Amino acid sequence: MLRTSNLTKRFGNFTALDGVNIEVNEGEIFGFIGPNGAGKSTTIRVLLGILKATEGEAKIFGKDAWNDAVEIHKRIAYVPGDVNLWPNLTGGEVIDLFVKLRGTNHKSRREELIQKFDLDPAKKCRTYSKGNRQKVALVSAFSSEADLYILDEPTSGLDPLMEKIFQECVIDAKKAGKSVLLSSHILSEVEKLCDRVGIIREGKIIETGSLNELRHLTRLNLVVETKQPIAAIQELKGVHDVEHKGHSLSFQVDSEEIDEVVRYISQFGIVKLESTPPTLEDLFMRHYEGSRGDA
Ligand SMILES: Nc1ncnc2c1ncn2[C@@H]1O[C@H](COP(=O)(O)OP(=O)(O)O)[C@@H](O)[C@H]1O
Ligand SMILES: [Mg+2]
Repeated sequence: MLRTSNLTKRFGNFTALDGVNIEVNEGEIFGFIGPNGAGKSTTIRVLLGILKATEGEAKIFGKDAWNDAVEIHKRIAYVPGDVNLWPNLTGGEVIDLFVKLRGTNHKSRREELIQKFDLDPAKKCRTYSKGNRQKVALVSAFSSEADLYILDEPTSGLDPLMEKIFQECVIDAKKAGKSVLLSSHILSEVEKLCDRVGIIREGKIIETGSLNELRHLTRLNLVVETKQPIAAIQELKGVHDVEHKGHSLSFQVDSEEIDEVVRYISQFGIVKLESTPPTLEDLFMRHYEGSRGDA
């Protein structure tokens, strides 16, 4: 549905994107993760044909993002993180306008979404808060018949209840066979929704794959309680961050060392053993550990 190859974008001397390769397959929710300033919006602007790439290629539906933008836009819906609307139109008028531009007319879906997002469509856009402007854009996008949804930090300004509604919309889109590119710096959001993620940092993709694939690179959190105290656990290969908590011991283990570590601790008589998978947050933080100095 979407592919960038060696996508590079320079603003003067500044390289905002440096050889970005991402791919969104049909029916997939792809999470595009990175801190502020990493290059998410720039990538998306190139994909939308708003910015011209300096080098490399951006394709949607096999067509060129810059040259074939008009064709492509008939089949995509876009929600930015900071929505600007016509101040003198009402939210309802803006929704109708967007939906009409995309050539679809889903009155019932529109009504349902306005209700779900608890939006008053009769108010002028100039009176809307940031969150309400986001809602207008989200209702427009999800009542359109698009094949690909490009969502650039779409929930900034939404409260947690509305974020949940947003997640339902994305899941419904996926169920209907649609594809989604969802950029975010909220890792928990992406963790819940995405089939695969790409992590971008300073204009470069540093990791890409399914959440399970990425977790292989990470550590498991373990909490154990044993009959005899465990000796010298911190000296085992792959064990990190050992902490004593009352009668139990908590630490992290590199995924590939689990087997060895569990075998070792079992000699001390396991009374309790809890394990939790790493969150995307853990994974993300580890990517920054090595580079804090230059951050
Ligand atoms: N039009 C522009 N001119 C110069 N620099 C820009 C422009 N747009 C973005 N940048 C820079 O490119 C980098 C990536 O920005 P952006 O893609 O907006 O990041 P993100 O969306 O991941 O927060 C930032 O350092 C930003 O300041
Ligand atoms: Mg951005």
